[in-house]
Formats: sequence, structure tokens, C-alpha cells
Amino acid sequence: MYVLGIETSCDETGVAIYHSEKGIVSDLLYSQVKMHAEYGGVVPELASRDHIRRLVPLIKETLKEASLSSDDIGGIAYTAGPGLMGALLVGATTARSLAWTWQVPAIAVHHMEGHLLAPMLEENAPAFPFVALLVSGGHTLLVRVDGIGQYELLGESLDDAAGEAFDKTAKMLGLGYPGGPKVSALAEQGEARFKFPRPMTDRPGLDFSFSGLKTFTMNTLNKTEKTDQDKADIAYAFQMATAETISIKCRRALQQTGLKRLVIAGGVSANKQIRASLQEMTKKEGAKLYFPRLKFCTDNGAMIAYAGCQRLLAGQQESLEIYAKPRWPIDELSSL
Ligand code: KG4
Ligand code: ZN
Repeated sequence: MYVLGIETSCDETGVAIYHSEKGIVSDLLYSQVKMHAEYGGVVPELASRDHIRRLVPLIKETLKEASLSSDDIGGIAYTAGPGLMGALLVGATTARSLAWTWQVPAIAVHHMEGHLLAPMLEENAPAFPFVALLVSGGHTLLVRVDGIGQYELLGESLDDAAGEAFDKTAKMLGLGYPGGPKVSALAEQGEARFKFPRPMTDRPGLDFSFSGLKTFTMNTLNKTEKTDQDKADIAYAFQMATAETISIKCRRALQQTGLKRLVIAGGVSANKQIRASLQEMTKKEGAKLYFPRLKFCTDNGAMIAYAGCQRLLAGQQESLEIYAKPRWPIDELSSL
């Protein structure tokens, strides 16, 4: 079965077609980054309007690239939340309307389940059960995964998400939006000069907190002359602190669950230093690390098509009601 996947939860219009046996046959992305960069962050209303402009042409292009017609599509998967309400509604209404026209089922997909399952698109996909660290612009979640929809929340951020911390640090350093890749690039010019705290690692538990790190970064920056080298050294220290904090919590989660497989996904999982720290930690623990290819770390239609396909194959069907959920706890999902 060919499933069309539609992602419009934030600032990327993602469309892909996944086949239950052949895998991803076509995958296109239109990023709004340039448009929002002017404002230093995502402007929700502009995001919604741009999704309206881009989505239908991108669906046509995705079909063309796969040499398929609408008759070949057996189901449509779309991100129904969490995310920006207006942006979500563009995907939801388009997906539902197309499904009605094409007389195929449509399925609402949880954006973070999409991220969580993205490593399944790789050749050496992880087997269940595993521990997953989901790190994006809006979420930092540690989850025990026993199967699709079988999610036990082990820990989460009590304040800023990891991606948010990267984005705010970028702003402080005058790097603009989107922050993660920019902080990471600047950190490569930096040296180990400042020692930043590893928040909440000195007490038990699997929750995170990144807002203190943000303040520490600001205070450190204000004590320097803010030269290019000062900024690079701060980016380096911030990235190192984040990577080590994440690594300590993931090690704890592996030890606590007794599991030997760790999955990282979401935009921040594209970060080289975080991947390297987790590689080192999992090696020491005798565990294995799994992550999606770089373009499937950040938002994309492929992960939505995959997650939706699994739910459709399991016979899940929904009513014709169109809905979007800007807030949607992942442990509320039904198991297959
Ligand atoms: O998953 P994603 O594309 O969108 C959300 O669902 O939020 O994640 C976007 C987040 C942003 O905060 C961005 O700064 C961060 O992922 N990010 C990175 C890197 N690439 C993207 N953070 C650190 N290092 C990167 N290389
Ligand atoms: Zn995302």
C-alpha cells in the first residue's frame, strides 16, 4: 500500500510517499526558514499561510517524482498535533479533503510518534523494546517504547526543550534563527575554556531542565568582551554541557530499564556532538545507538507517512471529523 504523508506542524511543509514493502519512494520538503529568519523565529500566521500556498503543489510534485497518480494512493497520513494550530489545520483539512475525494482512509499522526519512528526508515532499524530520546524544538522526552503506541514516559523537560535552548543561545550569540545548526557550527571554532553546569544530573530522576543553562550562558557572555572567540568558546561550552547532560540521563534510562537499545530522534538529534557523546556512552554501556539519517532528524513527511502506514495496516480508521491537537501527550496514543 502507498501512503501519502503530510507534515505541516511548524515551519516545514513536508510531503512523502511510503510503500509498505518498498519503503520511501518520494520525499519532498519546502522549508520556510528564510521567511521566518527575518523575524528571528517562527511567525505562526505566516507559517499557516505559507503551508496553504505550498502544500498542494508539493503533493503534486511528490506524486510526479514517484511516477504515481492519485489512484495509486491507498491512504493519507497527516500530522494532527502537537504543533501550531493554524499550521496543523492546513495539513488536516487538505489530507481529509483529499482522502474524501480519493475515497481512501486518512489517519491522524502524532508528530512526536513520527520522530520516534523515523529510525525505522533506516536499514538497521531498532527492534522493540528500546529507550527513545526525542529532542526537538518543542519537546525533550525520554520514552520507553515497547511497540508502536506503547509509550511509557520516563522523563521530560520541566522548562525549555533542548532545541529551544539551542535557539535561545543562538539569539544571545547574535546568530539568528534557526539556532541549533548555527550554534553547532560556531562551537567548532570554540575551545574548552568555560565550564558550564550539567543541570539536574546531581540528583536522581530522568527529567531535564535547560532554562538554568540559558541564564548561565547569558551571564558568562556578559562577563566577556563578546569577541568572536568568546562567542565560539561559549557555543562550545553550551553544546558540551547539553550533550553531556543528555548523555547522563540516557545512561540512567538504559540502566533503569535494563534495555540495551537507545534511539535518538527529533531536530536536535542532528547535532554531531550529541551523537558523539551518546555513541561513546552506549559503547561503554554495551548498548547500541540508533538515529535517523540527517534529513529525517528534522521535520519531514516521510516519518508521518511511515507512522500512518503502520496504523492503517493495523486497521485503524477514524471518523470523517477533522481535528488538530496543538497539545497532545504522547502516552495518550493507542497501541496497535
Ligand atoms: O524536530 P524539529 O525539526 O522541529 C520540531 O518538531 O520542533 O526540531 C527543530 C529544532 C530546532 O530547535 C533546531 O534549532 C534544532 O531542532 N536543531 C538542532 C540542530 N539541527 C536542528 N539543534 C542542535 N544541533 C543541530 N545540528
Ligand atoms: Zn519535529
